Amino acid sequence: MSGISKDDRLASLKWRSETNAVRELLARMFARPRRTGDKRSGKVKAVFKQRPYANQTFHDLPRPPGHHPFHLQLADILPPSQMRLTTRSGGLTTHIVGDTGGVNNPVPQQLVADAMERDLAASRTAEAPSFFYILGDVIYFYGEAANYYPQFYEPYLHYPAPIFAIPGNHDGDLPTPAPQGVTSLEAYMNNFCATAPHVTPDAGPVDRDAMTQPNSYWTLLTPFSTMVGLYSNVPEGGVIKEDQFEWLVSELENAPKERALLVSVHHPPFSADTAHGGSQYMLDTLDRAFKDSGRHPDMVLSGHVHNYQRYTRQVEDREIPYVVAGGGGYYNMYAMQTNPDGSALDVPTSMYETGLTLENYVDDRHGFMKMRFERERILGEYYAVTEANQPSAGQAVRTDTFELDLKQHKVVTSRRPP
Ligand SMILES: [Fe+2]
Repeated sequence: MSGISKDDRLASLKWRSETNAVRELLARMFARPRRTGDKRSGKVKAVFKQRPYANQTFHDLPRPPGHHPFHLQLADILPPSQMRLTTRSGGLTTHIVGDTGGVNNPVPQQLVADAMERDLAASRTAEAPSFFYILGDVIYFYGEAANYYPQFYEPYLHYPAPIFAIPGNHDGDLPTPAPQGVTSLEAYMNNFCATAPHVTPDAGPVDRDAMTQPNSYWTLLTPFSTMVGLYSNVPEGGVIKEDQFEWLVSELENAPKERALLVSVHHPPFSADTAHGGSQYMLDTLDRAFKDSGRHPDMVLSGHVHNYQRYTRQVEDREIPYVVAGGGGYYNMYAMQTNPDGSALDVPTSMYETGLTLENYVDDRHGFMKMRFERERILGEYYAVTEANQPSAGQAVRTDTFELDLKQHKVVTSRRPP
């Protein structure tokens, strides 16, 4: 990586954040305190009929550079020595979050990036995160090539691990009228779906290679997890057309049974926020794929909503975590719905939908997930990062921890650390 220091970068970012800091301070002055104690139930909806936006239309997918079924082996990305260390440790650790693009105010993204970097440096070598997986909306607002440096390459300049991504609506959207000769996802494909590792012109002085993912929807194969990544396109609520749907069913059918199976999609099936909400379309589409394939994933991950929410969904005798992790950097956080009296939602809270429980959430700070996949369990944590206008700015505080037992398929640990 180039020799730009983190201190220099943060200093250069500081003046750009002043307007946003004032806005965030005002928002916090009027923030509602969260109540604790009694468990409430059934008052809040986590799935909404999506409001269509006329300017968010479906865009044809780019031609895949790889071959069906669009698999990428982690072993083709990490050096053999690191793969051996990971395998010997009995599991694979990752950083995961979405909506990272630091448009308008780059400070939150940089604080989260720096916190992930410190977390990686502090981890024991074999259990250190092996990569960072972004849940879409890498670049705002239109996935522009020119914004890859300020919103991707520069913020992760000092993050040493590989970075993968699924695309979000902003990565595929185009302004109206579209710039001459620019196609949907063009810059995403150049920077994440290269046919061979190389530094793209979008990276500026940063020597991070473009990733070699085989398609806009694709599967990452690791010794401990199969990570199926969808591209839910641009319209609100998402669109998955038949070819991608059939691929998804096939991926679920063929995924190794002895490894954790995750499905990631930018538009969340469940969300109890006040801006986007969950997508009934995405919920129905995924459920249809799970039914057709005869296999539910162990976990569903999404972004799009700029906060953190962890649900447990009861499906027959299995508990399946559905996680929204969209607080990776975009400056504006999305508030959660409230109790009828205006107080903040207690957790855990049963949702309006049958068998769905909101276990925990963070809607007042950006942050990142840290997950570890082992043979018999998945361990999950969320770290909230103190905002720039708060004391101890940039400090990562673990605000959620959970363990999914893959044999019983129950969430056996679920708690908010003090
Ligand atoms: Fe989004």
